[in-house]
Amino acid sequence: MVKPSHTYVCQECGGISPQWSGRCAACGGWNTIVEEVSDAAGPLSGNRAARRPGKLIEVESLAADSAEIERLSTGLDELDRVVGGGMVPGSALLIGGEPGIGKSTLLLQVAARLAKEGRRALYLSGEEAIAQVRLRAKRLGVLDAPLDFAAETGLSSILRTLNQNPAPELVVIDSIQTLWSDQLESAPGTVSQVRHCAQLLVNFAKRSNAALVLVGHVTKDGQIAGPKVVEHMVDTVLYFEGDGAYQFRILRAVKNRFGPTDEIGVFEMAGDGLRQVLNPSELFLGERDSQTPGAAVFADIEGTRPLLVEFQALVAPSPLGTPRRTVVGWDSNRLAMILAVLDAHCGLGLGAHDVYLNVAGGFRISEPAADLAAAAALVSSFTNIALPNSCVYFGEVSLSGAVRPVGQVALRLKEAEKLGFTSAVLPRASDAEISATGLELETVSRLSDLTSALAGKRDAS
Ligand code: TYD
Ligand code: MG
Repeated sequence: MVKPSHTYVCQECGGISPQWSGRCAACGGWNTIVEEVSDAAGPLSGNRAARRPGKLIEVESLAADSAEIERLSTGLDELDRVVGGGMVPGSALLIGGEPGIGKSTLLLQVAARLAKEGRRALYLSGEEAIAQVRLRAKRLGVLDAPLDFAAETGLSSILRTLNQNPAPELVVIDSIQTLWSDQLESAPGTVSQVRHCAQLLVNFAKRSNAALVLVGHVTKDGQIAGPKVVEHMVDTVLYFEGDGAYQFRILRAVKNRFGPTDEIGVFEMAGDGLRQVLNPSELFLGERDSQTPGAAVFADIEGTRPLLVEFQALVAPSPLGTPRRTVVGWDSNRLAMILAVLDAHCGLGLGAHDVYLNVAGGFRISEPAADLAAAAALVSSFTNIALPNSCVYFGEVSLSGAVRPVGQVALRLKEAEKLGFTSAVLPRASDAEISATGLELETVSRLSDLTSALAGKRDAS
């Protein structure tokens, strides 16, 4: 009889230790180690396979003709763009997000839409009972879609069903953490179960040419739960994110073997499911009619799409010994850097001030080109001078106080013009990039150019 082996696996990073301990030696996480029992003859042990002689592999030429892959269009342009122009048959996609953000809603909508188009789609729910999913389908108005559906968590039954019937073109598993394989003794959701189930499902997808979508839970700090190895196994990893206080949701690609990773898709959660937001700039701009100090519009680029978002800053003398620095929607290290540059190179000492910086609408910005807009909002609030509300800002600020050129200038200016803006403050750009624009342009090469222009305005008024 084969003796089951006991291992102690960290549920955060997948690190294995020989005995239980309160802290994982690999990632430093506390209380994350769980005992897992694996059958020594199970798929994770390589003892038997190692003894078998391998077979000769047939090698092929890389240059050989390969047929153009025909992607599966989901009917939702926002989703198609994020995955690189439609789902790739035979590929696996992992989608993570906070509970209640709308993962199940999105996937049920996609599966039902494909089923209505006559594609074979299968939705497997391990989290909700059949009646619950029907209720949701009714709400989404897709009850009449010829979608195959089951509530099941046993991996062997799922694989048997998948292998027996003609392979579906889309398989949705909601969620990978609820699946369990009877080949392993650990509980569902543990590292070895998640890894094992994902492996077999990905193999099935590759073999049968079905597009596989796995839903993954996220941990407290927003990572997809379970070992990183699952993210390595799949072809595409998407995060579905959003702020509970707002209706809109953003789908972001963080890994994509078949397309770019910086694309975003914007959706809005309505009473009857998720709707695409085709012009998100309008959503993220605050009220643009009044002139208030501390607001500056940033012309952002997310992937191939330009997006205008508003920075709102409040700088006020602090009653505290250590002033507060609060940032929502931007990187707090970046804010600290901008404050240091304003202090060292522009003569604006904000050291004794509380600083609050917010990106309107709950959007999260990661592009370094946002530096100039953030700095403009901060200076505007500090000097109490409103910036012109028809002006956009973009540019990266370096530690020396220089404003560095950024990419996609023409696209940023075009979006601003389309939305009725009349001027832009930007770093040096080539003639080709700015020739087509009707905006009035002001080029700044140092951050102090911007601050002294504002100070000049204050003195004039
Ligand atoms: P859900 O898809 O269950 O989230 P997840 O699978 O990511 O946990 O989303 C549920 C939330 O969305 C819930 O709070 C209700 C809301 N919702 C709507 O606002 N409109 C709808 O049409 C549906 C189906 C859900
Ligand atoms: Mg769900």
